[in-house]
Amino acid sequence: MKRILTGDRTTGKLHLGHYVGSLQNRVRLQDEYDTFIILADVQALTTHFEKPELINKGIYDAAIDNLSVGLDPDKVTIFLQSKISAIAELTIFYSMMVSVNSLRHNPTIKTEAKQYGYGDLSYGFLGYPVSQTADITFCNADLVPVGEDQLPHIELGRKIVRRFNDLYGNGRIIINEPEALISDTPRLVGLDGNAKMGKSLNNAIYLSDSKEIVKAKVKSAVTDKNRISVKDKGNPDICTVSKYHKAFNGGDYENICEMCRNADIGCVSCKNLLSEKINLLIEPFREKRAYYEENIEKVREIIIEGSKKANIIGNKTVENVKNAMSIDI
Ligand code: TRP
Repeated sequence: MKRILTGDRTTGKLHLGHYVGSLQNRVRLQDEYDTFIILADVQALTTHFEKPELINKGIYDAAIDNLSVGLDPDKVTIFLQSKISAIAELTIFYSMMVSVNSLRHNPTIKTEAKQYGYGDLSYGFLGYPVSQTADITFCNADLVPVGEDQLPHIELGRKIVRRFNDLYGNGRIIINEPEALISDTPRLVGLDGNAKMGKSLNNAIYLSDSKEIVKAKVKSAVTDKNRISVKDKGNPDICTVSKYHKAFNGGDYENICEMCRNADIGCVSCKNLLSEKINLLIEPFREKRAYYEENIEKVREIIIEGSKKANIIGNKTVENVKNAMSIDI
């Protein structure tokens, strides 16, 4: 079985954008691949080190979000980044092979730095793509299912691995070169029509939202602003709700757009149809979530067990790496 590694920063609850962009894919892939899910708490510190109280909650939020959408703890390995010493060690070794300039020019770093309002970047933040390469390679992952914004990091990772193997492999492959697996679903827009659904943008529907909250949030979604009365013909091409219908109500999408164009359906009914669909999708997640929230000790055990397994694999990788680098005695 080929191995997959992916995961999330543990900075808070996951939303529908995460679901469409990556969680859905993870659930689908878990039967075909040996799946590793990282709870990236060290990476969370790169932006949240001044709020350590958020990190512990974030770990449980991310774990429960992943479990509630159907990742099966008997099949996948869910582990905590900070518990894997191989990740810390590999980060240091890899950091020798990466220029500061290449990190400065990384488009995702640039976007995020702007988003967080960072001027002079911390060493840890600037270098997190290097640490992410360690996340991926400590277990020799083959594939990394991620959203498009992560591509520059995977590319950097591939470069590091090639350089490493060239330098120390003596013709052998020491570290596997990972490949990105990009979700074919387009990125989900925010409720406000913003190009990205995001935690800090206040425009997200969370997987943990109740039925009523989903309904209220959908109600607030931005539609075609030129459509004032039900009798006006609408333009689904500029309507947020239509994009959600495409993502969550695929079978009816064309039909609903047609009805909107002909003023055969009003925004209120259209939104009601959508919240029903979203609630139908989330309902089974709610049941699983309730189970894990009541059995939080079980979640902890899953993470501890996963981390043990990951450490065994990681320690072996570090041994091989040190051997190849001749930094052993
Ligand atoms: N940077 C990723 C994100 O923000 C999270 C992440 C951390 C990750 N380590 C990873 C993703 C390793 C894939 C592989 O979504």
